[in-house]
Amino acid sequence: MRHLSYPRGIERRHLVEWFRQGRARSREIFAIPKAECYYDRPIKLRNPIVFYEGHLPAFAVNTLIKLALKQKPVDPDYEVLFERGIDPGSEDSAKPTSDYWPRRDEVQAYGAEAERRIERALCADDIERDDVPQLVDGQAAIAILEHEQMHQETLLYMLHEMPYEKKVARRPLHPSRVPGPGSRDLGSVKIPAGIVTLGAGDHFAWDNELPSHQIEVPAFEIDRHNVSNGQYLDYMKATGANPPHFWKRMNGEWYWRGMFELVPLPLDAPVYATQEEATAYAKWRGMRVPTEGEYHRAAFGTPSDEERLWPWGNEPPDPTRGNFGFANWDPVPVGSYPTGASAWGVHDLVGNGWEWTSTPFGGFDGFQPMASYPNYSADFFDGQHFVLKGGSPATAPELIRRSFRNWFRGNYPYVYATFRCARAT
Ligand SMILES: [Fe+2]
Repeated sequence: MRHLSYPRGIERRHLVEWFRQGRARSREIFAIPKAECYYDRPIKLRNPIVFYEGHLPAFAVNTLIKLALKQKPVDPDYEVLFERGIDPGSEDSAKPTSDYWPRRDEVQAYGAEAERRIERALCADDIERDDVPQLVDGQAAIAILEHEQMHQETLLYMLHEMPYEKKVARRPLHPSRVPGPGSRDLGSVKIPAGIVTLGAGDHFAWDNELPSHQIEVPAFEIDRHNVSNGQYLDYMKATGANPPHFWKRMNGEWYWRGMFELVPLPLDAPVYATQEEATAYAKWRGMRVPTEGEYHRAAFGTPSDEERLWPWGNEPPDPTRGNFGFANWDPVPVGSYPTGASAWGVHDLVGNGWEWTSTPFGGFDGFQPMASYPNYSADFFDGQHFVLKGGSPATAPELIRRSFRNWFRGNYPYVYATFRCARAT
């Protein structure tokens, strides 16, 4: 039997605590859909809810217990059934419902047994550093923890699409006060050319965050705030563009389709839009969506050319810095977190919606698929997916890091993503 070794600075008791918190939060999320909706497919062509409740423990067993530690399976059939979140290719190939998928109590019993095995693996004290490739197993441990957190966000996108009567409304998972009111300092800021560091330093990273390297970003100008619903409404009136996915028209008025209720469109909140919509809007303003490098320069650069770890400095994320970490279900007015602004006075670069970039998702020079999850990124290097940076209300604080890269198709409408405009100067 093999045992775990961890990257520097990571303590086992921290990982176990993180694992328990992640499982507890997932249970709260799976309690949002009413019980009778367990086999529903809130987004067509995605798997039904049951799949995800089985997938989280099965992925952890496949990745950590079996692949990294070479231990025996918990349930070999479930570990195939729930293996990967590959969506059915067409509605015909979408699987039938409850006659194919197990009963909920069976899925939950599997989850409980998997949790026991994973905790035991995370707790094992006799670390044998010599016969274990040093980083691989610790990498697998953190990979399963971050995997669960990433799914919590994508699960919330999915549950967002369910009719309100199929959900049990509840307070945010980690409510905290919104510092607001929104900053009124509109307009854009000019940022001089400079060097930015892309990629991860000395901490856990997914394969697409490596290797760390520097690039030069030419001078540019960027909006201080995300484009708001009000600005997008003006654009729609001027151009006849279609409304974004999260809006609904009723009795001649526009509404926001929130997680648990329909509310009059909050004009001062960021618009959630696709990258294609963002690109068209920016073009209308004579601008464009920023590149990944420009995002880095606006978020982490400083006039003295030192780079920060987060837009506000080098102190880790906390609820005063932005709308992330499950503090709210929905976006809040732009500029509500002045202490989260970057050195250039650019607001909400982290939280309140991922930021679309114009950079196609790809590997950095020297990219290598990660040993513990070789399919994680490379399947999406197809020119159809674009890099997003920052975070949304449903992004866990552990994923709020400079090097983290998210990616979606440019026309994917469900993601909590917004944008701002930029142009060369
Ligand atoms: Fe997954």
